[in-house]
Amino acid sequence: MRTPIVAGNWKMNLAVDEAVSLARGIAEGAPENGVKLIVSPVSVHLSAVSEALAASPVLLGAQNMHWATSGAYTGEVAGPMLRELAVRYVILGHSERRQHFGESDEGVNRKVHSALAQDFHPIICLGETLDEREAGNTETKVECQLRAAMSGLSAEQAQQTIVAYEPIWAIGTGKTASPQQAQEVHAFLRDVLRDRFDDNTANEIPILYGGSVKPRNFDALIAQKDIDGGLVGGASLKAESFLELARIGRSA
Ligand code: 13P
Repeated sequence: MRTPIVAGNWKMNLAVDEAVSLARGIAEGAPENGVKLIVSPVSVHLSAVSEALAASPVLLGAQNMHWATSGAYTGEVAGPMLRELAVRYVILGHSERRQHFGESDEGVNRKVHSALAQDFHPIICLGETLDEREAGNTETKVECQLRAAMSGLSAEQAQQTIVAYEPIWAIGTGKTASPQQAQEVHAFLRDVLRDRFDDNTANEIPILYGGSVKPRNFDALIAQKDIDGGLVGGASLKAESFLELARIGRSA
């Protein structure tokens, strides 16, 4: 079965010493319960956090990655630079990047291909706005985003990815999708994966839920059949709450 995952997206937060002490706190308290833990600091903190996590089972993620491996792309970060810092996961297509930095489905797909070619595990984010949900367009939106992000991938490549369903209306708002609402979309996404690839691939790919995940709501979410973990913003910024999520991740 799929390994449960609790992934922290620290977004544009923390000073470097705070990031290091958070990483240390997580590394020291990480339960040995089979839950995969990933933390994703801002790129300028990756080096320090990577050192803090050395010799710990906590894995390192980046919040973005350019598709080119080097070149004239002012302000961007390339895969080989992330690899040097022991980064294994890259969050791609986060709604904040789509919304504020004009990331397109096509650009996300280019990054997914590049990440896979460099042996990263892309964490592909998708989700609907409140307007889209209220208009009954949730499935159309997430299917379109998923198919676009995975365009041109082989089943073998797809199995290296992680999908994160993050309804935009639930991000940073304190409003979580109900376990049933989330499960419905997760099951739908798995059906799309089955249709696009095959049964085995659909069953292999972890689908995380993101959007105001907290220790108090996580157990009901992770108990759902197609919810394999969480992509967590706010609650990943404190070792205590992140570790609580890590403990809950297994008990489901
Ligand atoms: P919050 O957990 O703060 O709602 O953020 C979710 C998110 O965007 C994770 O990528």
